[in-house]
Amino acid sequence: MTNKHEKVEQNVGWFFIVTILAISIGGLVEITPLFFQKETTQPVDNLRPYTALEMEGRDIYIREGCNTCHSQMIRPFRAETERYGHYSVAGEHVWEHPFLWGSKRTGPDLARVGGRYSDDWHRAHLINPRDVVPESNMPGFPWLEENTLDGELIADKMEVFNMLTKNRSHKDADGNPIPLYSAEDIKNAKAAVKGKTEMEALIAYLQSLGHALK
Ligand code: HEC
Repeated sequence: MTNKHEKVEQNVGWFFIVTILAISIGGLVEITPLFFQKETTQPVDNLRPYTALEMEGRDIYIREGCNTCHSQMIRPFRAETERYGHYSVAGEHVWEHPFLWGSKRTGPDLARVGGRYSDDWHRAHLINPRDVVPESNMPGFPWLEENTLDGELIADKMEVFNMLTKNRSHKDADGNPIPLYSAEDIKNAKAAVKGKTEMEALIAYLQSLGHALK
C-alpha cells in the first residue's frame, strides 16, 4: 500500500517546497505575535538608560570581546535562576543596540552581575583574574587601568541611542515618549567621562547590569 505522503517524499522538488512552507508557517506563528506584545517592545518600569560612563564601559566591553566568553541572558530554568537570579526578560533589553545576549559561556552569565562584587574586586579581577579566582582561565586586561577616555564621541552616541529607541522609551503622563537622554545629559556627557580610565568605565557598566528586575 502506498501512502499519499510518499509522493512528496520521493520528489526532491516537492519535498523542498513543502518543507520550506512548513517551517515558514511555524516561524510566522511563533515570531509575528512578538511584534505586537507590549512586554516584548516596552521597557520594564525600573529600566534606566546607561549613564555616559556606563555607555563608554559598554563599548569597551564589546571592544575587548567580553561577550565572546560571557552571555547576558539568564534562561528560565531552575539551574540558572538559582545561580544568577531572575531570568532575563525582553523589557530589560529593549534599548540594547546591539544585543549582548550571546549563547557561548566560557565564563558565567553576567546579566545580573551588577552589585554582586565590589568595584575593588572587579579591578583586581580585570587586571589579573588569578589574583582573586586562582583557577580562572579568563585573560587579564591590565591596559584598561592605563587608558583614559577623551569623551569625543559620547554625545554623538547618546544622540544615536535617542534615535534608535524613540519608539521604545518610557512615556510621560500624557503618553508622549520621554527620550533616553535630555539635551542637558548630552551636553554634560563629555565632561562626565573625560579623563576617567577605561577601567572605571567598564566597572561602572558591569555594576549597572541587571538592576531593573530583582
Ligand atoms: C576567554 C574567555 C573570557 C573572556 C574573553 C573574558 N572572560 Fe570574564 N570570565 C571568564 C571565566 C572562565 C570566568 C570564571 C572564572 C573567574 O571568575 O575568573 C570569568 C569570570 C568573570 C566575572 C565574574 C563573574 C561571576 O559571576 O563570578 C566577571 C565580572 C567577568 N568575567 C568579566 C569579564 C569582562 C568585563 C571581560 C572583558 C574585559 C571578560 N570577563 C572577558 C572567561 C572570560
